[in-house]
Amino acid sequence: MTGFSAQWLALREPADHRARDRALQNKVCEQLANVARTEQRAVRLIDLGCGSGSNLRALATALPAQQHWTLVDYDPLLLAAARTALIAWADQVISDKTALTICKSGKTIDIEFAQVDLARDIERVLAWPADVITAAAFFDLVAETWLVRFCQALRTTLYTVLTYDGSEQWLPSHPADAAMLKTFHAHQKTDKGFGVAAGPDATSIMQRELTARGFQVTLASSPWQSDQTEAEFIHALATGSAAAVRETGLLKEQDVEQWLAARISAQHCTVGHWDILATPR
Ligand SMILES: C[S@@+](CC[C@H](N)C(=O)[O-])C[C@H]1O[C@@H](n2cnc3c(N)ncnc32)[C@H](O)[C@@H]1O
Repeated sequence: MTGFSAQWLALREPADHRARDRALQNKVCEQLANVARTEQRAVRLIDLGCGSGSNLRALATALPAQQHWTLVDYDPLLLAAARTALIAWADQVISDKTALTICKSGKTIDIEFAQVDLARDIERVLAWPADVITAAAFFDLVAETWLVRFCQALRTTLYTVLTYDGSEQWLPSHPADAAMLKTFHAHQKTDKGFGVAAGPDATSIMQRELTARGFQVTLASSPWQSDQTEAEFIHALATGSAAAVRETGLLKEQDVEQWLAARISAQHCTVGHWDILATPR
């Protein structure tokens, strides 16, 4: 497992939600409103690599009144954390059996939880009924070969947010920034369970593969912007980057330590991401 902790996902959730591109989100919401209107049924979304359910919390209140979500992850602890977090977030819990039904801001949301290893079983998941396949902070983990499989099997709209684009800017700057970023990129390209990870190349690979298959692809930038008002987030982000760099063994420990000490108290930090909306023509 890649070992994302529910604590880290909770810490990044406010920055994630602020960063998402609103114009692209509005487009997917319009598409789904159209489905609800013309077909008079609940809209169906599948969230790949759902973690503790942040993507649903970001999107559901802007979607039609009746929704069905399938949250997919291979980590049973994160699926359990998602159920707990969604119950806490709901205005009302209507049913809490195998599936969960909640109300939030006037929306009725049926939620199924599916423990699936997407490295192995993506084609099976993409065959489930869905109006939109969605994901947040997921696609930079996967390999190019897996992305080709994914794009081959995709039959419906894809809306994915927060795929890392490789850019970072910390203020004030530090002499080790460039070396740290280069080494972090090397770590991004290590195997996260799907083969050699595409990391920051994931978006351009998806754009190429989906366009070649006749999808209309729109990209929008969605950078994290944070400062010391979110000191715990900045601390965790810097510590996570330093840990990834340490794992590569490519930089001297003393340099990593000095960079980390400076970064924990950075005034501002920007980390670039892409959001993608891909619609079959
Ligand atoms: C960076 S986290 C993002 C979580 C969530 N989407 C969010 O925005 O907070 C990546 C997620 O992908 C999941 N994941 C990684 N590899 C997976 C695999 N092979 N199958 C299913 N889920 C996987 C992890 O468990 C984790 O929940």
